[in-house]
Amino acid sequence: MNAKRDADAIEPKAGEQPTKEPANAGAPTARAWRPFLVWRDEFEVGVQIIDDQHRTLVELVNELGDDLVAGRDRDEVLGSLRALIRFTAEHFATEERLMSEHGGGPGEEHHRAEHRRLFDEVRALTLDEESTEADAAAVTMRFLRDWLLRHIEVEDRPLSDWLRRHGVD
Ligand SMILES: [Fe+2]
Repeated sequence: MNAKRDADAIEPKAGEQPTKEPANAGAPTARAWRPFLVWRDEFEVGVQIIDDQHRTLVELVNELGDDLVAGRDRDEVLGSLRALIRFTAEHFATEERLMSEHGGGPGEEHHRAEHRRLFDEVRALTLDEESTEADAAAVTMRFLRDWLLRHIEVEDRPLSDWLRRHGVD
C-alpha cells in the first residue's frame, strides 16, 4: 500500500500500522439495522424496579442481536449472551425477592418454575462448547417470543398488580 497520506492525517511512527478501519466497516451495522425489540410504554407494569430491569433486558437482547447481525466472532456473541443471562438471573432474583417479601403473589409457584425453565434452557446452551452463533440467535428469538413479551404479560403484570396493592411502586 502506498505510504503517501492526506496531509492532515497523523503519520504513524515507523514500524507502526496505520489505524485500521473497524473489521465490520461497510457491513450492515447496528445503526443501519432495526433492533430486535423496541421498548414500548405499554410493556410497563407499574413497578419501577421491574420496568427498569425489563428495559435493560431489551437493551441486552438488542446488543446480542447487533453482534449476530454484524457477524461478530463467537467470543463476542457468547459474551453478550452471558451478559444477558447474568442480568436475567439478577432480574429473576429481584422478582422472587419481592414475591417472598409480599406474600407470594398470584401463581407464585408457576412463576418461579417459569424462571427456572428459561434460565436452565439458556444456560445449558452457553455451557455447551459446541454451541454456535446460530444457537445464540435461536435462543435470542425464543427468549423474545417465550419470555420477554409473553412473560411480562402473563406473569409479571399480575405480580406487579399484586405488589402495587401491597405498597410497592
Ligand atoms: Fe417474572
